[in-house]
Amino acid sequence: MSQTHAKLEKNIGLMAILVAVAVSFGGLAEIVPLMFQAETIKPLPGIKPYPALELAGRDVYVREGCYNCHSQMVRTLRFETERYGHYSLAGESVYDHPFQWGSKRTGPDLARVGLRGYSDDWHRAHLHNPRDVVPESNMPAYPWLAQNKLDGTEVAQHMRALKRIGDPYSDEDIAGAAKAVEGKTELDAVIAYLQALGTHVSQADMQAAEGVE
Ligand code: HEC
Repeated sequence: MSQTHAKLEKNIGLMAILVAVAVSFGGLAEIVPLMFQAETIKPLPGIKPYPALELAGRDVYVREGCYNCHSQMVRTLRFETERYGHYSLAGESVYDHPFQWGSKRTGPDLARVGLRGYSDDWHRAHLHNPRDVVPESNMPAYPWLAQNKLDGTEVAQHMRALKRIGDPYSDEDIAGAAKAVEGKTELDAVIAYLQALGTHVSQADMQAAEGVE
């Protein structure tokens, strides 16, 4: 080992800095191009920013940590595409801040759960106590969601913040947010969010978009 190299390896502070620099270069090369590639920043046809109620539901989803057991990313594996449909494309998650892809799959993937045909009442019962509809389920119960009312001002503020980072919400969308969630509970919101997941983009459009990649 050369003299300099030996010195470098014994100086933990310097070593840590140089490791960080080396890793950052890797990150720059891999991550930065993705920020400019059309297929990763352009929404697929049908993908729009979340309407007020769904946005509020998404917030509850994130707050309750549903992503700790549910991914929202159909992988390019045959057993997943046969079960859930076309594998997920980046253009589906353009308005997800932060995205909910996840990798912990204790429960089923939820990227297309809106296409499963569950009724709102099924979701209501399931979230209140999963065992009532799926006896062997180990999913936690979320009975408090039905008690908590939504705060329209908060939803409007969230939309305004998203608009600032580029989501195309109109002033009417924001002005109408409070009305859209008036009298609704967190449970209503999560159900609206779940029922819409995967319904906005057609399988045909996904196949067409695939050709662009
Ligand atoms: C501890 C892990 C865990 C957490 C946390 C969890 N789930 Fe689940 N979830 C499961 C499991 C396991 C199943 C499959 C059994 C069942 O249907 O209850 C499931 C099923 C589901 C299903 C039915 C999916 C399908 O295709 O049949 C939905 C919808 C769902 N969960 C929504 C949620 C939401 C919303 C939250 C957060 C409020 C949540 N889950 C939190 C484990 C979890």
